[in-house]
Amino acid sequence: MFNKGKVNKDAVMAALSKVQEPELHRDLVTLNMIRDLEIADDRVSFTVMLTTPACPLRNQIEREARQAVAALPGVSAVEVKFDASVPSDGRSRGLLRLPIRNAVAVASGKGGVGKSTVAVNVAVVLAQSGARVGLLDADIYGPNVPTMMGVKALPAAGENKLIPAEAYGVKMMSIGFLVRPDQPLIWRGPMLHSAIRQFLSDVEWGELDYLVIDLPPGTGDAALSLMQSMPLSGGIIVTLPQQVSLEDARRGLEMFRQLNVPVFGVVENMSYLELPDGTRMDVFGSGGGERLARESGVPFIGAIPMDPAVRQGGDNGVPVVVSDPESPVAQALRAIGQDIAAKISVAAVQKSDFVPINMIG
Ligand SMILES: Nc1ncnc2c1ncn2[C@@H]1O[C@H](COP(=O)(O)OP(=O)(O)OP(=O)(O)O)[C@@H](O)[C@H]1O
Ligand SMILES: [Mg+2]
Repeated sequence: MFNKGKVNKDAVMAALSKVQEPELHRDLVTLNMIRDLEIADDRVSFTVMLTTPACPLRNQIEREARQAVAALPGVSAVEVKFDASVPSDGRSRGLLRLPIRNAVAVASGKGGVGKSTVAVNVAVVLAQSGARVGLLDADIYGPNVPTMMGVKALPAAGENKLIPAEAYGVKMMSIGFLVRPDQPLIWRGPMLHSAIRQFLSDVEWGELDYLVIDLPPGTGDAALSLMQSMPLSGGIIVTLPQQVSLEDARRGLEMFRQLNVPVFGVVENMSYLELPDGTRMDVFGSGGGERLARESGVPFIGAIPMDPAVRQGGDNGVPVVVSDPESPVAQALRAIGQDIAAKISVAAVQKSDFVPINMIG
């Protein structure tokens, strides 16, 4: 009447080898993602080791893994647990040999389009998922990270290095911690270069899964200094939907290309404003970010609506993904953070020297 035939580990692994990781396009067994497989009579449990705790397709993986195992004769219950180990992009973070697995820079061509907003909220989203995250404010002319993250000062320095500030689970460093707010920031080229280098070499970042870097507006020196100090996994371009912003964004894309930084994609900010009656007003035009991505042959990562809560959160030091996590704008930022994490994983795994994830760290 009821199949009492005992299920064994080989049968479970064979079933799971039919389940694809939707973004890495290989099966869970080949990717070595199945851990702690246990069978007690007709109950099977295992852990899926993801390549990012911010995995956007966790639910799909869970559903498909569960279905595959539940279909085996002799299985009546399946427990799927998750853990994550973020692979390194294989760049050993240059001469500094920093234990930072991935570094992603947020740029635009134009100022004021929302780079800092995206960098701050993406960093918080990644930290909320459980990843170890740093946020480097490379905008040494107009540092906004301290205000946006609600932190005024660094903790006391260590013996040899500065200790980064920390908020919402994110470690951060900014020139804003080192100068008075009213002090003009005038840098000569070599000083700029050494300031950015010191943000990496003289700060006790510790081990990080992700370092998110907020670049200053424009196409320039800061990004170059950064690249010379530490290789980047990739870059994100933020633009408004409007034509002039798109032209500047193209220059940002070109900057990454010239520096040999892979472009993870384009984010369109301030895409529309939702009016009280539910209709959408295209304040800055529409569809420009997607068009730019298409024309440049890079992915479109997502669109962020306008919401006064973003500015309030930024001014009050509480990022909107914390202050109003269920708002459409926070949901958009969360999806963007998860998509960036997924793209970082794919890039790391696609590198030819990829080793199965249980062999890292
Ligand atoms: N989606 C949004 N809705 C409402 N306000 C926003 C949104 N995105 C950003 N802002 C606000 O717009 C202003 C500029 O954003 P932000 O500082 O992030 O841009 P930026 O590109 O980093 O600027 P800069 O080039 O000066 O560094 C901020 O006051 C921010 O709070
Ligand atoms: Mg900024």
